[in-house]
Amino acid sequence: MSDTVTEPAVPADRDDSAGIELIGVSKRFPGQDTPAVDDVTLSIPGGRIVVLLGPSGSGKTTTMRLINRLIEPTAGKITVAGRDALGLDPGELRRRIGYVIQDAGLFPHMTVATNIGLVPQMLKWDKKRIAARVDELLELVDLPPAAFRDRYPRELSGGQQQRVGVARALAADPPVMLMDEPFGALDPITRELLQDSLLRLQEELGKTIVFVTHDIDEALKIGDRIAILDKGSRVAQYGTPQEILLNPADEYVARFIGGGQAMRLLKFGRVGDVALRAVPEAGPGDDAAHVRERIANGDTSFAIVLDAGRRPLRWITLDDLAGASGPIGERGSGTAPPIRARDTLQQALESLIQIDHEWVPVVGPRGVYQGTVTLGTLQQALRDMRARAAGETVAHEAGEAR
Ligand SMILES: Nc1ncnc2c1ncn2[C@@H]1O[C@H](COP(=O)(O)OP(=O)(O)O)[C@@H](O)[C@H]1O
Ligand SMILES: [Mg+2]
Repeated sequence: MSDTVTEPAVPADRDDSAGIELIGVSKRFPGQDTPAVDDVTLSIPGGRIVVLLGPSGSGKTTTMRLINRLIEPTAGKITVAGRDALGLDPGELRRRIGYVIQDAGLFPHMTVATNIGLVPQMLKWDKKRIAARVDELLELVDLPPAAFRDRYPRELSGGQQQRVGVARALAADPPVMLMDEPFGALDPITRELLQDSLLRLQEELGKTIVFVTHDIDEALKIGDRIAILDKGSRVAQYGTPQEILLNPADEYVARFIGGGQAMRLLKFGRVGDVALRAVPEAGPGDDAAHVRERIANGDTSFAIVLDAGRRPLRWITLDDLAGASGPIGERGSGTAPPIRARDTLQQALESLIQIDHEWVPVVGPRGVYQGTVTLGTLQQALRDMRARAAGETVAHEAGEAR
């Protein structure tokens, strides 16, 4: 096995311009002794899901409502997609920011279609365009339009209402979504289903999502990054799920995340965060001699053939290329179904154990190839993580003993 690895893959097609910056933001409600939000500075990258995780009363909802200006800050600066949020018309700002709350907040006297079409209607889209958009969004959130568009909210389950809430927030295709404990009132099974739907949706849409929860497992599952908040929205730690699991910044964070670290790494660690194996790449139009040379210069005996959209097609070995000249065309043999960068380490292990291929390509949004993984890669990644975690625990205990 070679030691060649690539850096953890970062999807290149995210809209990094749609980030949110909070700079020294405070909110003190009239009559409050301590501010609900106290001098918070946080940089939320575009196209990612950032989770605000903290106990009840820590200021999560207030922080969200400062971003869409349902609440005005007493101090500080907020930019959304590079523009000064406080300088924009609040109505205009809110049309660029989808907002989903715990009880979906649907209007009970309006049909599903009317609820979803509210913002497009405000934007004066014509009827046909709104109807088409409503159906498109219902499909997107897995509610068949014919069955759902004319129903009223009371005729839907909690999970279905929440899906409609998400569709409504997405109606005018805002670059930013704020989701305040959106699945908090749902039973555990429905909740998991909606979490999975959201992750699938996000893989397609690449929105900037700020997601509030007080549930650590939900945060680990959903978040690209997690901000762990203490009172006044003080940011106790801001990092990837893996960083936070392996390296809690202080006692407060350690207490908040609790035990079961090894299982959580497996359950929530993502394939995309693992250093993937690099393999020589080729396209069907590449010349056989060049591909042979690329393989000879690498440390595997094969290359991966990608289509024009960089989606994996086949493995091609030196044997497949023996005596060949001109374009490699359809030589080689098909890869196993790719593992998604979004998959957890546990899901990846399950597929690797079940399939008959040692090497499996890893793909990101739109099936774009990001690197290759083997059982050995995952084993090594888990071993490294555990070693790092153990090293840190020892250091921590040594520190405490002193
Ligand atoms: N409109 C308000 N007026 C006065 N105090 C408020 C108001 N909204 C929230 N608070 C207070 O601000 C603090 C943070 O609340 P909130 O942002 O709702 O926290 P979280 O969403 O994390 O539970 C709490 O102490 C809460 O009581
Ligand atoms: Mg709240």
